[in-house]
Amino acid sequence: MTLTLPPYQSKLQGWPGLIEAYKSYLPVTEKTPVVTLQEGNTPLIPVPAIAHQVGRQVEVFVKYDGLNPTGSFKDRGMTLAISKAKEAGAKAVICASTGNTSASAAAYARRGGMRAFVLIPDGNIALGKLAQALLYGAQVLAIKGNFDQALEIVREVANKYPVTLVNSVNPYRLEGQKTGAFEIVDTLGEAPDWLCIPVGNAGNITAYWMGFCQYHKIGKCDRLPKMMGFQAAGAAPIVQGNPIAQPETVASAIRIGNPASWEKAIAAQQASQGSFTAVTDEEILEAYRLLASNEGIFCEPASAASVAGLLKVKDQVPTGSKIVCVLTGHGLKDPDVAIKHSNNQFKQGLEPSIEAVAEVMGF
Ligand code: F0G
Repeated sequence: MTLTLPPYQSKLQGWPGLIEAYKSYLPVTEKTPVVTLQEGNTPLIPVPAIAHQVGRQVEVFVKYDGLNPTGSFKDRGMTLAISKAKEAGAKAVICASTGNTSASAAAYARRGGMRAFVLIPDGNIALGKLAQALLYGAQVLAIKGNFDQALEIVREVANKYPVTLVNSVNPYRLEGQKTGAFEIVDTLGEAPDWLCIPVGNAGNITAYWMGFCQYHKIGKCDRLPKMMGFQAAGAAPIVQGNPIAQPETVASAIRIGNPASWEKAIAAQQASQGSFTAVTDEEILEAYRLLASNEGIFCEPASAASVAGLLKVKDQVPTGSKIVCVLTGHGLKDPDVAIKHSNNQFKQGLEPSIEAVAEVMGF
C-alpha cells in the first residue's frame, strides 16, 4: 500500500524525520524506502536547578530523547534499520530488548509492513514498554533469562533464519542514532564540553561519538566533547572491567552485564579523554526525582543515570563548561517505579465536597 499525502498536508508536515533531514550524512539513496514516524528534532532543554547543584558557572542541558515517537532514543536507529531492512526485502525483524528497542522495533516494523519478533527478559521490563510492543502488534517472547542471554539467542536466530536483526549490532542502528549528536551541535552551534550518557549495551555512546567525530571532520564543530558514560552500580561491567553474570538495577533499561559494543565504547571514552563511572540505584532515583520535581522533566530511571553521574563527578567539571546529559527515555515508560519511588503522596477517600477539599488544602 502506498500512501500519498494531499499537497496541503505535506506542506504542513514541518520536520520530515531524521533520515530526510540528515540524508547526506546517512547511508541512504534515492531508492531507500524511508519508514519514518518523524522522529528526531527533540528539544535541548536547559536545567538550571541541576546546573546550580554542579556550581562553577556551568550550563547544563538535557537532550530529551524521550520525546521521540515511541518514547525513546531507539527511534533514531530504528527508522534507519527498518528502512534499510525494507530496502533489502526483509519480511520480518527480530531483537532482544530490555523494553525500548522492542517498542521501537515493533512500531517501525509494522509501519514498514514487516513482522516483528521481540525477546524480552521475563518479568523485567517496564509496563509501558510491554504495553507498546503488544499494541504495535509484535510477537512478544519472554524468556526465563536476562537481556544478555536474549541477545545471544536472537543473534543465532537471525544467522539461521530469514529475519533481520535490529539490535544495535546492526550498523544502521548506530548510524541513525548518531543524529542525536548532530542535533546537539546544530542547536548549540558547537559541541558541548561534556556529554553525559547512560550506558547499557553501549551502542548509544558509540553512536554519539561517531556523530560528533563526523561533524568535527566536516567543520560543523571545532572541538569534541568528553564522553562521560554512566552505568548502574549493579550492572557496571565496563566500569568493573568484566562481564556481570547477573546484573541488577532499578533502571531495568540498562540491566545489562555484557554489552555488545563494549570495545567501541571504550575507544570513544579513550579518544575523548572521558570516563566510565558507576552510579548507585539511590543516586539514580535521586536524580530522577530531582529532574521531575525541580525541572518538570519526567524521564525513565535509566535516563536519570546521566544526571546522577554528572552530580557524582561534579568536582571534575571545568568552570564555565557546557554540559549535555542525554535523557534517553520517557518517564511514562515505567509508571511502577515512579509510584513506588516518589516521595510524594496523594489523599485518598476524600468526601466529594468543597469543604473537604478546601480543608485538606489548608483553607
Ligand atoms: N537508556 C534507555 C532508556 C535505554 O532503553 C537503553 C538501552 C539505554 C539507556 C542504554 O543504551 O544500550 O545503547 O548503551 N536499552 C536497550 C533496549 C538495551 O533493549 O531497549 P545503550
